[in-house]
Amino acid sequence: MIAHRIVSTVPFSDQKPGTSGLRKKVTVFQQPHYLENFIQAIFDSLEGSARQTLVVGGDGRFFNRHAVQVILRMAAANGFERCLVGQCGLLSTPAASCVIRKYHAFGGLVLSASHNPGGPQEDFGIKYNIGNGGPAPENVTDAIYTRTGVIDSYRILSAPDVDIDSLGKRILGDMTVEVIDSVLDYVTLMQNLFDFDRIRDLFRSGFRMRFDAMNAVTGPYAREILEERLGAPVGTVMNAIPLEDFGGHHPDPNLVHACDLVQTLHGPDAPDFGAASDGDGDRNMILGRMSFVTPSDSLAVLAANAHLTPGYADGLAGVARSMPTSSAVDRVAREKRIDVHETPTGWKFFGNLLDSGAVTLCGEESFGTGSNHVREKDGVWAVLMWLNILAARRQSVSEILRSHWRCYGRNYYSRHDYEGIDSAAADAMMTHLRATVPGLADRMLGSFTVACGDDFSYTDPVDGSVSSRQGVRVIFTDGSRIIFRLSGTGTEGATLRVYVEKYEHDYMRHDQNTQESLAELVQLANKLAEIRERTGRTQPSVVT
Ligand code: G1P
Ligand code: ZN
Repeated sequence: MIAHRIVSTVPFSDQKPGTSGLRKKVTVFQQPHYLENFIQAIFDSLEGSARQTLVVGGDGRFFNRHAVQVILRMAAANGFERCLVGQCGLLSTPAASCVIRKYHAFGGLVLSASHNPGGPQEDFGIKYNIGNGGPAPENVTDAIYTRTGVIDSYRILSAPDVDIDSLGKRILGDMTVEVIDSVLDYVTLMQNLFDFDRIRDLFRSGFRMRFDAMNAVTGPYAREILEERLGAPVGTVMNAIPLEDFGGHHPDPNLVHACDLVQTLHGPDAPDFGAASDGDGDRNMILGRMSFVTPSDSLAVLAANAHLTPGYADGLAGVARSMPTSSAVDRVAREKRIDVHETPTGWKFFGNLLDSGAVTLCGEESFGTGSNHVREKDGVWAVLMWLNILAARRQSVSEILRSHWRCYGRNYYSRHDYEGIDSAAADAMMTHLRATVPGLADRMLGSFTVACGDDFSYTDPVDGSVSSRQGVRVIFTDGSRIIFRLSGTGTEGATLRVYVEKYEHDYMRHDQNTQESLAELVQLANKLAEIRERTGRTQPSVVT
């Protein structure tokens, strides 16, 4: 039986669902009809979804299982032919992308609030991915948002919960629910890209690693791939069991939140390699013994060495990075004579470049790296690519980094975040920067000379769409840069991100500590943006 429920007057949302979908406190999602309204608004905005396949899965956080059941009943009432659900409702974001593509699904609903904490008082989120496996583009998210304003009923089947814990097919109304292995399709894809035999030999030779799944979704993926298929010792994967509250931690792979892993890599009996990924498995952090690879350097190293892995042996069509990501990969692209595309912040801007075949690898400074194998960034993929390169070169992470810097020079890089600042003050600061920065061209600032300053604007080479006001940049004649932008994902007040990059051609002569080498640029940034005067802050809240 299909029930049409009339939507109550629960205020739907003050947040326009952007590329990361709708992200709210669990308690907000628990309001009567709230989840259902959003799901129906998505279904209403899709054209041609009747008798199609939908993929459903999430990162396992609190509310995941409930949301899966509601989505299944609503998908059945809205005319889908088939739903593919990850076992226990689990699918990492890149695995969902992989499954959508492999089974030619119409799209997928991915349940996650990425690296935000989980639990009854924490965050939940839903995003819709289209048939190419990537996040819905703006015209789709705009349509969903518009629909949420006028929706007055939703369609849901009255039926008991479906068993999503055992594999196999079930019938729900006129729809088939297929509970699939959350890991298998993804593992097959990884096996096609990387030389598993070679990596197995590396582990057999005594190479040791730790992968921190942060009690989030990649635990089962990492265990199957690293411990089962690649022969790494049991225990290689830490915090491997997905928990609804991620053990009370932020499942965010950075030096602060993955501090246990960082300590292990700096400890007495440190393993050779360390890695972590976030709540939904799309971010990654790479560590060597006593060393940290910045995401910008990681992208550059992967681009320089991709030919050593079977999936990329024919070379790269091109590479892309978000504008604030360091230009380390540009130097690799120049040497390899391939194009480099500079896009605004956010994974969605890579979609057209990947679909059109213009680029093979892409990445962001915010611990996101990926390739054309799916349409999301992919944490476990990045780890396997590093492992394949380590297995081929038989050098340590720090040897690989150093030889990279010797060859290409080094882009010292750091991001300073000022979180929870007053929104009006943040807006005024950006207005001030937009007004003053273009006038700095040719001026000397300390020991740097400004080449140019602007507010970054991007024209998509495939569909011609223009995205303006994507971050104020000060570019210096030596290739160093300072970039200012406001976060689009912060939840309280505004978050100012200041990205500082200094290029050192002769890395051997100037091997320095990162913050030391950036100190003058950081001071300049503070002065240009009048950070202290405008925000009252003397220190950033987070430095990465
Ligand atoms: C942040 C990151 C950005 C990433 C996004 C979603 O966005 O900086 O690179 O794509 O999260 O994971 P921001 O808060 O800076 O707008
Ligand atoms: Zn994520």
